Amino acid sequence: MLFIKERRKFIIYLLNGWPALWATSLLPLKQAFAKRRLAKQEDSMQLPPAKSEETVSVEQAIRQRRTVRGFLSTSLDAQQVSMLLWAAQGITGKRGFKRAAPSAGALYPMDVYVAAGTEGIETIEAGVHHYDSQTHALSLVAKGDLRAKLAHASLSQMWMARAPINILITAEYKRATGKYGKRGFRYAMIEAGHIGQNLFLQAEALGLKAGIVGAFHDKKVIQLLTIPSKHEPLLIMPIGYHA
Ligand SMILES: Cc1cc2nc3c(=O)[nH]c(=O)nc-3n(C[C@H](O)[C@H](O)[C@H](O)COP(=O)(O)O)c2cc1C
Repeated sequence: MLFIKERRKFIIYLLNGWPALWATSLLPLKQAFAKRRLAKQEDSMQLPPAKSEETVSVEQAIRQRRTVRGFLSTSLDAQQVSMLLWAAQGITGKRGFKRAAPSAGALYPMDVYVAAGTEGIETIEAGVHHYDSQTHALSLVAKGDLRAKLAHASLSQMWMARAPINILITAEYKRATGKYGKRGFRYAMIEAGHIGQNLFLQAEALGLKAGIVGAFHDKKVIQLLTIPSKHEPLLIMPIGYHA
């Protein structure tokens, strides 16, 4: 009897994990397509590999972390942006699938965008770039420095526009609700929090500071940044050197 109960539990466990197993088995194909897509895109930009060389301890980063609203206009370099995006949604799993932040059922319903200002990032043009976790690359979604307009759409929190980059965290709920129903909304929002904290701590480790903004007009942000309407904006994080 005990054996049957345990076996049933195991089968349920396996069935619950099927999206992750399915996604893992299709991974080489997915990666090959992503790389081909990237090679074809003129407006894509490979980021330097993420290097873990910082000496700031986790305790130090947690203690130092503060929401900052004053930034210098100093540019970030591609390596710093690479580290930030890796901490947000980079691939960390040995099988090339699992990411830096936890995700319910490993469904990864989140997308990350970078709104870079003019000279916000050395060697990367001003505009809105989508981060592709599989290829660790950026692809241009909209051209131009949209930070001031983004700050306006965020109830005129103009301090945001002074940071060289604003990182936007979005959720495509359907990827989580497909398995979890309504609870998927809750899981996606929790995941945004994990990504936000990873960004805060990585910024500290790089000697940078981050702010966090949840007050904005969703539709205005979607239209301005020309991101898919199914990607609901949840958090915007201005990041740069502290003024
Ligand atoms: C979900 C969320 C939304 C927030 N939205 C804003 C915002 O729109 N504007 C702002 O200036 N700060 C915002 N904050 C920052 C909080 O004001 C800040 O975290 C709080 O004052 C605590 O300070 P600390 O982060 O420095 O510890 C937000 C924080 C969170 C977690």
